[in-house]
Amino acid sequence: MERLQYNIKKFVGIGGLTVVMALGFQNCSVLPSSHTGSLASLDACGEDLMVIFQNIMHPMATAQCSKCHIPGGSGKGDFAGDDVTLAFESFYAIGIDKVAQFAVDAGHNAPYTGAVNDADVAEALDEWEVIKPQCEIRGGANFLSSVQNLSGAPEGGSGEYSFTFDSAGFNGTVIRLDVEKVVNGSSVTYRFSDPEITGAGGQELSIRGLVFYLNGEYQDTALSFAGVNQVISPGVPEQFSGIEIVQAVDPVTDEVQVGFIEMTYVDVN
Ligand code: HEC
Repeated sequence: MERLQYNIKKFVGIGGLTVVMALGFQNCSVLPSSHTGSLASLDACGEDLMVIFQNIMHPMATAQCSKCHIPGGSGKGDFAGDDVTLAFESFYAIGIDKVAQFAVDAGHNAPYTGAVNDADVAEALDEWEVIKPQCEIRGGANFLSSVQNLSGAPEGGSGEYSFTFDSAGFNGTVIRLDVEKVVNGSSVTYRFSDPEITGAGGQELSIRGLVFYLNGEYQDTALSFAGVNQVISPGVPEQFSGIEIVQAVDPVTDEVQVGFIEMTYVDVN
């Protein structure tokens, strides 16, 4: 438990991510798993997985698996080697789920594997379940919309902007957004509110979250809609109420894109 708290503290510093996290994994299991686009987020998650490995899985492996899972050993994979970086490479390639599954399976190599590893494995998987949605969000979107120039965004009131997606499988998907420009002395911000997504074709879309890019830069503090976890039926607009405030960089040329985190689709035909 102490280690879990340590890790959560580590993430509190990153722009309110813990709040998003609470929304972020409430119904992950509902997400259809077919047709998942390749995530741009593996790198961000690799770092966090390394922390879990270093704190929990590597000590467990060196104690329980090093009879075989070391360089030159009889086991497949070197994740119990002394060199934690090399051990992690092997662990990463095999994947936490498979290593966890073998570790608690007495049938693999008791007494080294089995219930003796239950506590460590449960702790590692619990941490990963909390951290994974956060690092995926930090990694940014896996699908990016068309670009809209915000130079004409109104001050007071708001203008409607539409974004389209042309990635294979998501053709015709549109997201509309109200944008207001707020000028306060020398500070200019945009308020993005009430995004509405409409899917197209014979597909249901499953979307974990929406994020924003300004002038190509991922706005990793703009996460109000990062945990929406919504399935969208074709032709049925789905609106999310709320406001995201983004600091303008250059009020003349600012361009915005909407990104989807883990947007996947399911054929309904
Ligand atoms: C006595 C030797 C031995 C011990 C101890 C041992 N293993 Fe293994 N392990 C093997 C061998 C041999 C294989 C390859 C054959 C197989 O898949 O069963 C293997 C395969 C694996 C694989 C599959 C790797 C892959 O790439 O498919 C995993 C995961 C694994 N072991 C995890 C563990 C963990 C975790 C421990 C310790 C908690 C452990 N093993 C302890 C010998 C061992």
